[in-house]
Amino acid sequence: VSAQSRIVARSADTTVTISRHIYGHFAEHLGRCIYGGIYVGEANKTIPNVNGVRTDVIDALKKLKIPNLRWPGGCFADTYHWKDGVGPKAKRPTIVNQWWGGVTEDNSFGTHDFLDLCERLGTEPYLAGNVGSGTVQELADWVQYVNFGGVSPMANWRKENGRTEPWKVRYWGVGNEAWGCGGNMRVEYYADIYRKYATFMSDWSGSKLFRIASGASDADYHWTEVLMRDIPHNLLNGVALHHYSVTDWNKKGPSTAFDEKQYFGTMKQALLMEELVTKHSAVMDKYDPKKKVALIVDEWGGWYDVEPGTNPGFLFQQNTIRDALIAGATLNIFHNHADRVRMANLAQVVNVLQAVILTKEEKLLLTPTYHVMEMYNVHQDAKLIPVTLTSPDYVFGDGKLPAVSASVSRDKNGAIHVSLTNIDPKKEQEISLEGLTFSSVTGKILTSANLQDHNTFEQPEKIHPETFKGATKAGNALKVKLPKASVVVLELK
Ligand code: AHR
Repeated sequence: VSAQSRIVARSADTTVTISRHIYGHFAEHLGRCIYGGIYVGEANKTIPNVNGVRTDVIDALKKLKIPNLRWPGGCFADTYHWKDGVGPKAKRPTIVNQWWGGVTEDNSFGTHDFLDLCERLGTEPYLAGNVGSGTVQELADWVQYVNFGGVSPMANWRKENGRTEPWKVRYWGVGNEAWGCGGNMRVEYYADIYRKYATFMSDWSGSKLFRIASGASDADYHWTEVLMRDIPHNLLNGVALHHYSVTDWNKKGPSTAFDEKQYFGTMKQALLMEELVTKHSAVMDKYDPKKKVALIVDEWGGWYDVEPGTNPGFLFQQNTIRDALIAGATLNIFHNHADRVRMANLAQVVNVLQAVILTKEEKLLLTPTYHVMEMYNVHQDAKLIPVTLTSPDYVFGDGKLPAVSASVSRDKNGAIHVSLTNIDPKKEQEISLEGLTFSSVTGKILTSANLQDHNTFEQPEKIHPETFKGATKAGNALKVKLPKASVVVLELK
C-alpha cells in the first residue's frame, strides 16, 4: 500500500543557517550515564580508557560530531557542588544522588574530567549551574575557576589542580527546571533569581558567556512570556524548553514490547514539538522580534519504562525503530525552525532515556538513534531550504498524524541534503520533491521489519544504515519511494 506526498522546496528563501548546536547531547549524573557509561575510573584495567573515560565512547561520539555536551544535569545540577569534584580524588567528599536512585557517588568525575573530555571530543561544554541549592558566590566561583586567565583565588586553585589555561566555557545554564526539581519556583520569582545569578557570572578573559534560562515544560507559554518580559536581554542569550515524548507519566509503557496504540501515542507527542516550538517562538517574537535570544530545547526524546530488572531510578531503556523515527522527525522540526531553535540536547547520551550509546561492562552498542543522528549530521551549519509539504495521514483508530516529515539544506560545498521520515508503520510513501536543481542523487536509509526492532549486545548491528536506492530524478523533480517506518537522508549534487 502506498500514499502520495508532495514537497516543494523554496530555494529562493534560503537565509537561515541550521546551527550545528541543534545536535547537542546531555550527560547527567544519572544511573549509568557518567559512572560506568562514560567514566570507568583511571584504575580500570579491563575497559580501555583515557584518564578513566572509555575510549570506545570517545571514538563513537567523535564520529557523531557532537557539537556540545550538557552536564552535570538535569535535576542533579541543582544539587551539585562543583568544589567537591575538583582536587585529589581520594580526598573528595561523597554526594548522595537525591533524584536518581539515592545512590552515593564519590565525586571522582568532576569539572576537570568533564571539560577535558569535551576537549578530546572537540565539543563545546554546556555547564548547568546550581541555582536551586547553590549560592550566587558558588556559581560565580565556578565561572572564574574555568574561565579566568589571570591571577585569582579560583584560577590559582585550577592551576594547582593541574590546568594552567582556562577552558573558556561559553554555554552556561542558570539552573534547571526551576518550576520543578530545580526549586519548585514560580516563574516571576525565578526571573528575579536569574537576574541576580546571571549578573555575577562574569565574562572573564574575553570569554563572552552565553547565559541560558531554565525554560518551560511543554506548553507552559506563560513561563516563556515572563522570562522574555522580565529578564533584560543583555543577560539572556537562550531560553530553554523541555519536552519528552511520553503519553502518560504514570504508565509510560515498555521501550520494546509496545503495541501500535503506544507507538501512535509516542509519535503524537514527538510531533507535538512542532506546535511547541512554533508557539514558544511566537511568544519570544513579541519581546524579541530580531530573534536575538535562542530557543534551546535542552531536553528532548522518548521516555519509557525502564528495562525489566533494572533500577527504576536509573532510566535505562532500549532504543528501537520508534526512537529512530522520533529523532528523524524531531530534527526535521528543529531544522525548519532554525531561525529561533539554535541549540538542542537529546536526553541522554549514554545508557539513559533515548541514548545514542548503550554499554554493558566492556561492551558497547550504537542505537538506531545514533545512526539517525549520524546520517543527519550533514545538515550541521548548512543553509536551510524551507519546504512546503503536503503529507497523507498516518491513521490509527480515530487519530491521525502527518505520515511524512522533511527538511532540506545546502552545505558549504553546494551539496543539497534532504532528510525524510515516514512514521506510518503500514504504508510506503511516494514522494515528489520539486524546486531543487541537481543532476545526481544518492542516499542512506535506516529501517527494519518491525517498529520494535533494536540492537542488542548479542546482535549490535541488526539495525544500521544501508544504501538507499529508492530515489530517482524524473525531469526536474525527485521521486522517492519511502518505505514504511523509515528514515532516509539523500544527497543531491
Ligand atoms: O533527563 C532526565 C530528567 O528529566 C532531568 O534530570 C530533568 O531535567 C528532567 O525532568
